[in-house]
Amino acid sequence: SVQRTLVLVKPDGVARGLTGEVLRRIEAKGYRLVALELRTAPAALLEEHYAEHAGKPFYAPLVEFMGSGPLVAAVVEGDRVIEGFRSLAGTTDPTTAVPGTIRGDLGRDWGLPVAQNIVHGSDSPESAAREIGLWFPGV
Ligand code: CMP
Repeated sequence: SVQRTLVLVKPDGVARGLTGEVLRRIEAKGYRLVALELRTAPAALLEEHYAEHAGKPFYAPLVEFMGSGPLVAAVVEGDRVIEGFRSLAGTTDPTTAVPGTIRGDLGRDWGLPVAQNIVHGSDSPESAAREIGLWFPGV
């Protein structure tokens, strides 16, 4: 059935000029953009977005990194898009993400305290609804 997911091109992806490449892969797969915005996220939004990671060792560096520069937030729609985008993105660790995926083709480790892995995608229908409400109230 038709779903929506929240996709973020993280500050590393935007800084490296990979926004177009990420959006190209999403559109080439056949998904549809229903909202799209470049913005620098305030800490309060990022703390809420990543609330489930509060207390983990990478939480503070993650919030700092995600607020370090502009990111691109998007709502993407299509049948099974939540799973489908996660498949396009590849696994969390960009060093070992499978080639052919966004992270596997374009990401690697940079010796930093938090993995800079180019994109975020919601991991479940519940997360997608919560995250879209946070980033795009009204969409
Ligand atoms: P994302 O899909 O945005 O969700 C949480 C983020 O935290 C993840 O991508 C990575 O950027 C980061 N992350 C998750 N697990 C770890 C980890 N074990 N070490 C460092 N960073 C992590």
